[in-house]
Amino acid sequence: MDDHFRTKTALITGASSGIGAAMARDLAQRGANLVLVARRADRLEALAAECRLFGVTAMVAPADLADGQARADLVQRFATVDVLINNAGLGVFGALATADWDRVDAMLAVNITALTDLTRLFAPLMAARGYGRIMLVASTAAFQPVPLYAAYAASKSYVLSLGEALDVELAPQGVRVSVLCPGVTETEFFAVADQTRSDFTKKSAMTASEVARIGLDALANGRSSVVAGTMNAAMAFGTRFAPRALAAKIAFRTIKP
Ligand SMILES: NC(=O)c1ccc[n+]([C@@H]2O[C@H](COP(=O)([O-])OP(=O)(O)OC[C@H]3O[C@@H](n4cnc5c(N)ncnc54)[C@H](OP(=O)(O)O)[C@@H]3O)[C@@H](O)[C@H]2O)c1
Repeated sequence: MDDHFRTKTALITGASSGIGAAMARDLAQRGANLVLVARRADRLEALAAECRLFGVTAMVAPADLADGQARADLVQRFATVDVLINNAGLGVFGALATADWDRVDAMLAVNITALTDLTRLFAPLMAARGYGRIMLVASTAAFQPVPLYAAYAASKSYVLSLGEALDVELAPQGVRVSVLCPGVTETEFFAVADQTRSDFTKKSAMTASEVARIGLDALANGRSSVVAGTMNAAMAFGTRFAPRALAAKIAFRTIKP
C-alpha cells in the first residue's frame, strides 16, 4: 500500500457515511492522522475509534458545511492539515421544475459553495508550507447532462472543471488537486436523494472502499482527475464522441426508474 500519506493529517468532509467513511478507513491504514467532518457526530465518533486502532490520531469536528461560519471555524481550528478531502455532497432526484427548492438549495450549498470555500481557504495555507493535496469528489454525472439529476449533474460538472483548473494554478506551489469521479457506488446517496433506482444503477454499483482506494491512489500520484472503475471510465470517455443532446437522452434512459 502506498505510504505517501503516512504521518500527514487529512481532513475529510462527509466522513459519517459512504465514500467519505471509506476514505477515512483507507487513510488510517496508510498511516494518516484524521479530522472527520459531517453533521452526525455519533457516527464520526464511532469511525474515529475504529481508525485509531491503526495507531493514528483521529479527531471529530461535527459541522454543517452549508454554514459559512462553520467552514471558517474549521479552517481556523485545523489550519495545518496537509490533505483536504472535499467529499461531502448530495443529490436531489426528480424533475427540477417540481423539486422542493430548499432541498435543491441545500444541495448546491454543499456540492458547490462549501467545496469551493474550503478549497480557497485551505489552499493558501498549504501553499505557504509548500505542500498540499486536495481532493474534490465529483461524479461521472459531470461528463454529460443528466435529466432527473439536472442540477446535481451540473454541480458535478462545476466540480470537475474547478478542480482541473485549480491543479494548474496551485501545482507550482506544491499543492496538487485531484478530482475523483465515481460512478454508481453503494452508499446512502440514493436514500438521501430519494431515487428509485433503475436496473442499471443496481447492477453497475461499485463499493465505497474500491472507489476510495482509486481516489486516494490518484491523489498520492498527483493525477488531476480520475474516473473510478474501468467501465465508468470507458463510458465517460465515450461521451466525448456523442452529441451532447444524444448523451443527455442516453443518460435519461439509464437513470429513469
Ligand atoms: N454514491 C454514488 O453513487 C455517488 C456517485 C458519484 C458521486 N458521488 C459523490 O460522492 C460523495 C459522497 O457521497 P456518498 O455516495 O458517500 O453518499 P452518502 O453516503 O450519503 O454520504 C454523504 C456524506 O455527506 C455528508 N453531508 C451531506 N450534507 C452535509 C452537510 N450539510 N454538512 C456536512 N456534511 C454533509 C453526510 O454527512 P451527514 O449527513 O452526517 O452530515 C455524509 O457523510 C458526494 O459528493 C456524492 O455526490 C456519489
